[in-house]
Amino acid sequence: MDHDPAHIPVLHHAVLDLLAPRPGETLIDCTAGLGGHAASIAERLGSDGRVVLFDLDPGNLARAEDRVRRALCPDDPKSARVHAVRANFAQAASWAAQHGVRADMVLADLGFASPQVDDPERGLSFKRPGPLDMRLDPEGPVTAGELVNTLDERELADLIFRYGEERHARRVAAKLVAERREAPISSTDRLASIVRSVVPRAPGSIDGATRTFQALRIATNDEIGSLEALLGSIERWSGRTDEGGCWLNPGARVAVISFHSLEDRPVKQAFAGIVAEGRARAVTRKPVVPEDDEQRRNPRSRSAKLRVIRLDGGDAGGND
Ligand SMILES: C[S@@+](CC[C@H](N)C(=O)[O-])C[C@H]1O[C@@H](n2cnc3c(N)ncnc32)[C@H](O)[C@@H]1O
Repeated sequence: MDHDPAHIPVLHHAVLDLLAPRPGETLIDCTAGLGGHAASIAERLGSDGRVVLFDLDPGNLARAEDRVRRALCPDDPKSARVHAVRANFAQAASWAAQHGVRADMVLADLGFASPQVDDPERGLSFKRPGPLDMRLDPEGPVTAGELVNTLDERELADLIFRYGEERHARRVAAKLVAERREAPISSTDRLASIVRSVVPRAPGSIDGATRTFQALRIATNDEIGSLEALLGSIERWSGRTDEGGCWLNPGARVAVISFHSLEDRPVKQAFAGIVAEGRARAVTRKPVVPEDDEQRRNPRSRSAKLRVIRLDGGDAGGND
């Protein structure tokens, strides 16, 4: 196994157990990140396997590609059986259809990777002073700073309420609009201190800036829109085998790891719909969550939930 001590993929063993990779299969990893899950899966696929990696972040994608190539085809570093696609996973289905690739496993481990949040220049953390950027794709169309400085007060309040579930959203938006009249809000530390000045922090509760930062990150990267597009393409194509667009093999396993209820809810609903229509079976009847030990080692894993379905058809690949 390719160990990278700096990176512990969340729910790693559960992902491997439940996706149950078999030699010669194809994995589409929608969120390559640092390649932790994908490299371990690649080891089980053997040289006839195929791995397609998506990521918006070119640095992560390159790192993941390198790990996966070493795991899948160590003797053929240029193998055409590894594809690294710098794109939004909303495009996974159309990419696969265009390239004639059908997945036996689809994995989406949502959100961001630790090096992204640890790099102050990405502006993702209220704990580190940096530019108010927050884009996972460094060339994405809009930064968090542009949203904070250009949306009107009502739009800002709605965004912070909807994606941050911040009950003080109106107060935060009013304060942001007042402050930006003095000078544009262009740094994470200034944003955090403005938000904290109007969001009381009860002892033992989360930092007052947490929810507003989450909301801006989700909006900047259109995270819920991308997830809904991916789920839509799974709903549309599960149980179908027709040519021209089908990107999922019969028996394909689909796994999603979410980190908050705004992500988990659409996954739960989409999977339940596909199962109710008799086009898949639930591999996880309840979401799998990290053991205490993993939560202690990796605090970010605390909110993780893994849901897996197995599409009908195919032979007995995957767990039930
Ligand atoms: C939690 S990390 C994935 C970690 C990975 N599973 C591993 O084992 O290393 C999430 C990754 O997904 C990427 N990402 C987030 N949203 C995306 C989207 N809509 N399309 C493509 N990549 C996305 C982020 O840039 C980040 O690298």
